[in-house]
Amino acid sequence: MIAVIDFGSQYTQLIARRIRECKVYSEIFSCRMPIKEILKKDIKGLILSGGPGSVYKIRPQVFEKFFKTDIPILGICYGMQLAASVLGGKVIHSAKREYGHASIRVMSAPLFTTVPRTFRVWMSHGDSVVRLPRNARVIARTATTPIAGFVHGNVYALQFHPEVRHTQHGMKIIRNFLTSICHAPRLWSMTRFVDQEVARIRETVGKERVICAVSGGIDSTVAAALATKAVGKRLKSIFVDNGLLRHNEPQEVEQTIGKYVNLKVVHAQHRFLSKLKNVKDPEHKRKIIGREFIRVFETEAKSVKGIHYLVQGTLYPDVIESGQGIGPSAVIKSHHNVGGLPKRMRLRVIEPLRMLFKDEVRKIAKVIGLPSAFINRKPFPGPGLAVRIVGAVTEDRLRMLRAADHLLDVEASALKNIHAIWQIFAILLPLGSVGVMGDQRTYDAVCAIRAVRSDDGMTADWVRLPHAFLARVSSRITNEIKGINRVVFDITSKPPSTIEWE
Ligand code: XMP
Repeated sequence: MIAVIDFGSQYTQLIARRIRECKVYSEIFSCRMPIKEILKKDIKGLILSGGPGSVYKIRPQVFEKFFKTDIPILGICYGMQLAASVLGGKVIHSAKREYGHASIRVMSAPLFTTVPRTFRVWMSHGDSVVRLPRNARVIARTATTPIAGFVHGNVYALQFHPEVRHTQHGMKIIRNFLTSICHAPRLWSMTRFVDQEVARIRETVGKERVICAVSGGIDSTVAAALATKAVGKRLKSIFVDNGLLRHNEPQEVEQTIGKYVNLKVVHAQHRFLSKLKNVKDPEHKRKIIGREFIRVFETEAKSVKGIHYLVQGTLYPDVIESGQGIGPSAVIKSHHNVGGLPKRMRLRVIEPLRMLFKDEVRKIAKVIGLPSAFINRKPFPGPGLAVRIVGAVTEDRLRMLRAADHLLDVEASALKNIHAIWQIFAILLPLGSVGVMGDQRTYDAVCAIRAVRSDDGMTADWVRLPHAFLARVSSRITNEIKGINRVVFDITSKPPSTIEWE
């Protein structure tokens, strides 16, 4: 395997993902884990990630052991600075910080085989290596950073981030490291991932019982299907109809997912809607929905004796946005699926997808054999339509939004590029606006349409939908849905907006 040592970078998972894309197996280890333990594994190469720290504030000698082996090492950003200081070079806080794009010139080195001499890279550093270790050679430089990469024996170091898409030829550089330098076998695949996770769940759970909350989305379904492969009927999956779902969703979930997992549908619409009455604040709504969900789930779980584990379909972007990654990341929204459930119920959590991105989960769903209509379902937030009704949630507003969303969905299914769209949905605004219908004045609700492209939900761009499509949807919504007399189109990306309105 390739071991990625995490020093708290936002990009650590991206490094692991790029390694998977090269069909090589990798595992991430915290930099706080004893090095002896890490080196016991069969490691073909080590990647030291970036991180928010400064090497002159720590004792780099702690990490000397990595450099005493003959395992090839690639240090990225902070990892490069760490390599430089351990090997006897010098790192200082530089007056010339570099954030964003830079043009780099690279010298001949196995890392750069088939890579042009000059290309664009992504930089993000305030510290710089200003003196090389003895016997090291510079292999990359930019206008502001004369030492933007070096090699020292089998240690390679890069100040820029080859793992991010903004760096040209980044994948080639990573592939060169894995294949020509580490000679890592290219044996990893999604099928292997499935086998490995199923075996891991089986071993963890032993003879105990497991419970899982299925939301109707691909993440929790894939997690539940993996666990079902591991423990069969000892997994009970619960689907809560919270009254905030899309048109026909409870029935569809029961029909599709029920084929793959042992599923119980709990009808709790009234409970959720009564708790949400007159609540307007988005975070308050999310908290209420999260809390009620836990209560419903707990009651259900109590009806089964001897449950010790909870399977969750948490993905890596959920972990990062909820501020639970290793690095210092801020809480943007409290995603309820990584909430307080396990602690309260004293359950141990199994999160087989925690390190993966959405498109990787789709590939796993294919390996498991889930139907393609289900695999291509768009993401839907845990708090459901409540975070798409800006302001208070009422039965009538749910009716309007559900109908608008369904109509949009039906129309969108005919779009040529529908597969390239991450999400397309309707939002109901807390605004009345004046209209005229059949010579009568109306004072009705405004509905917004949002369509975004995204790779992982962490950033997104709005989709330039064809005007004819927008015209048809607008006319159908205002004609067919009582209570809406105006349709607007959201033209903001993420950042600065988020994908959901609340
Ligand atoms: P935002 O609105 O944060 O959304 O830009 C990013 C992606 O996450 C989905 N989302 C959620 N998913 N529970 C979820 O499972 C949540 O609480 C939640 N909030 C947002 C959103 O639909 C988008 O795909």
